Amino acid sequence: QMELSLRPQTLDSYIGQHKVKENLRIFIEAAKMREESLDHVLLYGPPGLGKTTLAAVISTEMGVNIRMTSGPAIERPGDLAAILSSLEPGDVLFIDEIHRLPRAIEEVLYPAMEDFCLDIVVGKGPTARSVRLDLPPFTLVGATTRSGALSAPLRDRFGVLLRLDYYDEQSLSEIVTRSADLFEIEIDATAANEMARRSRGTPRIANRLLRRVRDYAQVIGDGDITLQLSQTALGLLQVDPLGLDHIDRKLIENMIERFRGGPVGLDTISASIGEESMTIEDVYEPYLMQIGFIQRTPRGRIVSALAYEHFGYAYPSET
Ligand code: ADE
Repeated sequence: QMELSLRPQTLDSYIGQHKVKENLRIFIEAAKMREESLDHVLLYGPPGLGKTTLAAVISTEMGVNIRMTSGPAIERPGDLAAILSSLEPGDVLFIDEIHRLPRAIEEVLYPAMEDFCLDIVVGKGPTARSVRLDLPPFTLVGATTRSGALSAPLRDRFGVLLRLDYYDEQSLSEIVTRSADLFEIEIDATAANEMARRSRGTPRIANRLLRRVRDYAQVIGDGDITLQLSQTALGLLQVDPLGLDHIDRKLIENMIERFRGGPVGLDTISASIGEESMTIEDVYEPYLMQIGFIQRTPRGRIVSALAYEHFGYAYPSET
């Protein structure tokens, strides 16, 4: 799969997130020197910033296998017990969307994370008893868009907490250039910058734009990506100059037209545009807040003057 081959395999080829990399490099080095498994790692931050990639990088750097699953995929305690008991010493278990793990399953994780063991109940009724099974030492890498949604006992069992942040344009431009190299296509630096600017700080979006512009270059042009070609292609893709898509636009325009720019509650916005509250909160709002288009207040969300201007609305006067 193409998506996979674009993912960097090592810390050195992983672009951006300098603080995260700097810290990880040390923790990995130290664990290897002590010949121990790496302490459990919690990665949190908006979607598309490379949490899955980083989990794979951790396993490569540690020289161990990675087993990937997600919170909603684990339905019964037995599912998790089966995964845990099949790990080899030092392996990475990656649980995406770990905040969606059912509570009953979380409780299986506590002794597993803390003491590398499973407490299993054998038998029923008055003769039921608890048996302790040893597990190989392993590293749990959990990923979540919202660290606040994690229960405190679970969060407290991670030794390493790393927050991924939106990438700057320079890093995104390097990522686009690196991906173009892997695709073996020519791309002008100015075109890479243009895609970086319209990627909402998110490598996943940058790589998606690159794929679409590449299609356009192959069919309409000679395969090379110039600034002009990328601008035309991005225009056809309806990616606006800030990279906002039609849902971002719908969200803001709705708040302006139906709620006078707010304050308006999340659930009201959700009902009004037909997107789930959680999706708005985890996927759309973080970037709109980052660029100063939306602010959160105790009375609800408000649209800023910047956003009025960007979408071509007159900002209402104070009277
Ligand atoms: N592709 C996607 N994310 C990347 C990153 N952080 N570094 C290098 N290539 C990437």
